[in-house]
Amino acid sequence: MAVETKLEAPIDMMTLMHKAFRVQSERTEALAAEAQGGGDLGALTEAFGFWMKQLLYHATSEDKAMTAPLNDCQPARDNESEHAELAAQGTSLVGFIQKGDAAGLEESVKATMLTMEDDQHKELADKAQEVESALKEALGESTVTARTRRHLYRRIMALRILEYDHFENEEAFVCSVVKERMSDQEQLVMVKQILTEEGADDPRWIIQWVLDEIDPAEREWLTALESRFNSVIAGGSGESEKKRGFFARLFGSKK
Ligand SMILES: [Fe+2]
Ligand SMILES: [Fe+2]
Repeated sequence: MAVETKLEAPIDMMTLMHKAFRVQSERTEALAAEAQGGGDLGALTEAFGFWMKQLLYHATSEDKAMTAPLNDCQPARDNESEHAELAAQGTSLVGFIQKGDAAGLEESVKATMLTMEDDQHKELADKAQEVESALKEALGESTVTARTRRHLYRRIMALRILEYDHFENEEAFVCSVVKERMSDQEQLVMVKQILTEEGADDPRWIIQWVLDEIDPAEREWLTALESRFNSVIAGGSGESEKKRGFFARLFGSKK
């Protein structure tokens, strides 16, 4: 996993970013494993929220700045599909966590409903809420909590595995094309869009996190890269406009 990659072209920053993601994913998964034993979900919710915030921004900015310009390139299209899959699993997990400790029960009820005949299903759908509370009563609060937390752990692990597979594919099949097709100058403009968010209160919220998670030598290289891309004239695109409201879209009304 920790393959040493030479840091040369600007796109090589991707290995450092993915490294930061691995650290955050494993941290979250460890908290989810721990949460199976009970206790408060605060630390897990926070770690997971931060991971998703970074991951969804990462996927969105890569689609726009990295793969959109790669025409006639199947790996770029595959990469975009993998992002869509990651985003779907990630956002559904955000919803799961927001439901709290009864979420696993709701999932079980839904699964039961799916196996039923249509008319039975309709009838039950109307009464889903009642069924849930009846089950909750029958199972007892602690069983419901334990079930939810097992599901949560399993889903977080599944998301991490999907993410790791994606990183490997992207590094092997997309970053190589970027190196072939884009000049260093073009790559600098691109990585600036992936590592910073123009127009945000803190435009450096992405790169600062990556810097915090990597080794000193890597940090030195990335800091030098930041100076380089800051000195490149980006050629004024209307990026900040589209990025506004990113969190409103992701977390709904939750601030
Ligand atoms: Fe990436
Ligand atoms: Fe990606």
